[in-house]
Amino acid sequence: MTAQFPLVPTDHPTPPQTREEILADPGFGRHFTDHMATAVWSPDAGWHDQRVGALEPFTMHPGAAVLHYAQEILEGLKAFRHADGSVWLFRPELNARRFAASARRMVLPELDEETFVESVAALVRADEAWVPPYGGEQSLYLRPFMFASEAFLGVRPAQQVTYCVLACPAGSYFPNGVTGVTLWVSTTYSRASIGGTGAAKCGGNYAASLAPQREALGHGCEQVLYLGGEGRRSIDESGTMNVFFVTRDHQLLTPGLGTILDGVTRDSVLTLAAEHGLEPVQRTIDLDEMRDGFADGSMTEAFAAGTAAVITPIIGLKSDDFALTIGDGAPGKYTQQFRERLLDIQSGRAADTHGWMRRVL
Ligand code: COI
Repeated sequence: MTAQFPLVPTDHPTPPQTREEILADPGFGRHFTDHMATAVWSPDAGWHDQRVGALEPFTMHPGAAVLHYAQEILEGLKAFRHADGSVWLFRPELNARRFAASARRMVLPELDEETFVESVAALVRADEAWVPPYGGEQSLYLRPFMFASEAFLGVRPAQQVTYCVLACPAGSYFPNGVTGVTLWVSTTYSRASIGGTGAAKCGGNYAASLAPQREALGHGCEQVLYLGGEGRRSIDESGTMNVFFVTRDHQLLTPGLGTILDGVTRDSVLTLAAEHGLEPVQRTIDLDEMRDGFADGSMTEAFAAGTAAVITPIIGLKSDDFALTIGDGAPGKYTQQFRERLLDIQSGRAADTHGWMRRVL
């Protein structure tokens, strides 16, 4: 497949005034731009028919395998407007690599890195008017995904696959994403097990998260904190985010890779840790260690990290047999520093010393 996604412009673009109204308060995932990037794969032709065209519904056979067996993967990344009007993607190569890893796990065809990045960049160029203005915390959220579109009810890898990228102007993922969230530590549900699909970004993982999410909401919490490992006693990740803990001894703890998602924001935070005087440590974190740590003050802050959620302070934890407030219930010092640092790099206010930004326009 060549890395080209030629534009076939929509003949019914959103009126500029409607677009401006949406951009004034986009929320998350509610509004879509005018175009989408697509490509189709079959064993004989490989990837073909790639283009950026009008956003429109798919015509799909009801026997399409994705509707029955959930052979599907997804990504999430963002485009940011800088003060000079230019538009940049944040570390799209990492999303491309994770997308390929997810494809291998779900036996979908891989897209090479260049094609993945170009599909996203071509959509951003087509829908440039939808990239929110510089100055706020808004961005254009990009959602590449791939699914089994072959009509076949036998359980085997699909012989026809569709790739698509959607774009949504995005504000905060959680309405109180800056002030902080409380997590429900679920002892009923787990997210992943060794050898399962926890490290793959596949739709089924998110479908399975809906019941625990409902459980969390029922306990007054915004999200779940999953347990994993032997006897389900160690911290895994949160619903849509990786988790971090700051210790009094200036360590930045996060669960090691394996069953969790290899988050792009997670990797960025680990890289930035030293700049904030913290030693990044990836290891198993026991539930009791976390509880005791916040009780005796050896753990001082907790936050979650994800593309959609950026850096979200964790201000409380609840479970069947405990409830604790972290610190004084307000976002911690390091949490705020990481959030600002990341947003400054992404929006061009800070020098891109790690070479993370990729210019699109
Ligand atoms: C992201 O942070 O980009 C995600 O994919 C989480 C999403 C399920 C909202």
